[in-house]
Amino acid sequence: MPIDFSKIPSPCYVIDEGLLRKNLEIISSVRDKAGVEIILALKGFAMWSVFPIIKEYGFNYATASSYNEARLAFEEMGTPAHTYCPAYTNNDFEKIADLSSHITFNSLSQFERFYPQIKNIKNSISVGLRANPEFSEVKALLYNPCAPGTRLGITASKFTDKLPQGVEGLHFHALCESSSYDLEKTLAAFEKNFGHLLSQVKWVNMGGGHLMTRKDYNCDHLIYLLKNFNKHYPHLHVILEPGAAFAWETGYLVASISDIVENSGIKTALLDISFTAHMPDCLEMPYKPLILKAVDEEPGKPTYRFGGNSCLSGDYMGNWSFDHELEIGEKIIFNDMIHYTMVKTTTFNGVQHPSIGIWNNESEFRLIKEFGYEDYKNRLS
Ligand SMILES: Cc1ncc(COP(=O)(O)O)c(C=O)c1O
Repeated sequence: MPIDFSKIPSPCYVIDEGLLRKNLEIISSVRDKAGVEIILALKGFAMWSVFPIIKEYGFNYATASSYNEARLAFEEMGTPAHTYCPAYTNNDFEKIADLSSHITFNSLSQFERFYPQIKNIKNSISVGLRANPEFSEVKALLYNPCAPGTRLGITASKFTDKLPQGVEGLHFHALCESSSYDLEKTLAAFEKNFGHLLSQVKWVNMGGGHLMTRKDYNCDHLIYLLKNFNKHYPHLHVILEPGAAFAWETGYLVASISDIVENSGIKTALLDISFTAHMPDCLEMPYKPLILKAVDEEPGKPTYRFGGNSCLSGDYMGNWSFDHELEIGEKIIFNDMIHYTMVKTTTFNGVQHPSIGIWNNESEFRLIKEFGYEDYKNRLS
C-alpha cells in the first residue's frame, strides 16, 4: 500500500519498508548470482533501526569510514567492520582496529605508520591498500575520487612489483551513482594498472557507487562482469560496498509550508525543513529533487521556489509547478530522500531536525525518532 502522507508528521524522513525490501531483493540476487560479497556503506545509509530487515537478506557486514561508523556496525549489525578511512590518527586507530575485520589504508605512509601496531591489537585483521585506478567516469568533481591531485588512493607508480608484506587486499572506489558499463571501464583501468599485483592478494574491494537498484541499471551485465573477473582471478574474494543502492528511492522527506512570500515576481514557499541542513546534496551536487505532485516549471501553472528555514540566502531551490495555488500548512513531499540525507544533516541555525519513521508492510506509520532541543544542545558546548 502506498504511504498515506496525511499520517506522517512534518517534518519527517519516512522510509517505505516495501521499497527497501525490493532493493534488498535486487542486491541479494546480484550477490548470489555473481558469487561476491556485498556490504553496506554506512556513510550513505546508516538508519540502524532497519538493520534487522537488511540482515534478513543476508547482509551482515558494513563498511565504515570512522570510529563511529565502525562502532555502529559492531553494535547494530553485530559484526566487525570493513574499515577504510582517508587518514587514521593516533587517537582513533587502536579503537577502530578493535572493531574491524578489515583495515584499508589510503596511503603507503599510513600503512607504514600503523601496520606494525595491528598485530598487537588483533591477529585476525586483514589489511588492504586503496588503489587509485586514475580513471573515473564520474563527471561531478566533488564526487570524483580520481580527480586531478586527489588525496584518495595510491597510484600505480607508487608501487613496486611486490606489495608490502602483510597486505592481503586491494580496494578501489571510483564510481558514484554509476552504471555497470562505468564499472567495466574502471575495472579495465584497475586491471591495467594493478593486475600484476593481484596474484599477491586474497581480496579485492570494488568500492561503492554501483547503483544496481536504479531502474535502468543492467544487473545482468554487472553479474557478467563479476563472474568474468572471477574467471581470471579465481583466488580472489570480491567485495562491493554500495551505500546509495540500498536506500535508493526508498522514501521521502515530508515537509510543510510555513509561509509564502513574493519578491520580484518570484513566489517562494517557505518550508519547515532546510536544503542545506536536511538535503545538502541538492546544493552540493547540485541536483533538483523530485517533488510528488509537482512538475518542472511550466508556463501558465502556479509556480514556486521552495525556501529552507535557515538564514542562508542560498538555502532554496526552484522552480516547480503545481496544478493549484499552494497554501500555508500544505504538505510538500520530496522524493528519494533517504540515502546521503540523515547521515549528513546538521542543526545549522538550530533548525528543527526532521523526525525519522517507517511506513511498514502493514500500512502503518511507526515514528522511530524525534529530535529536540537536547540534540541541538549536545552538539555544542
Ligand atoms: C570508499 C567508499 N566506499 C563506498 C562508498 C559508497 O558509495 P555509494 O553510496 O555511492 O554506493 C563511498 C562513497 O563515497 C566511498 O567513498
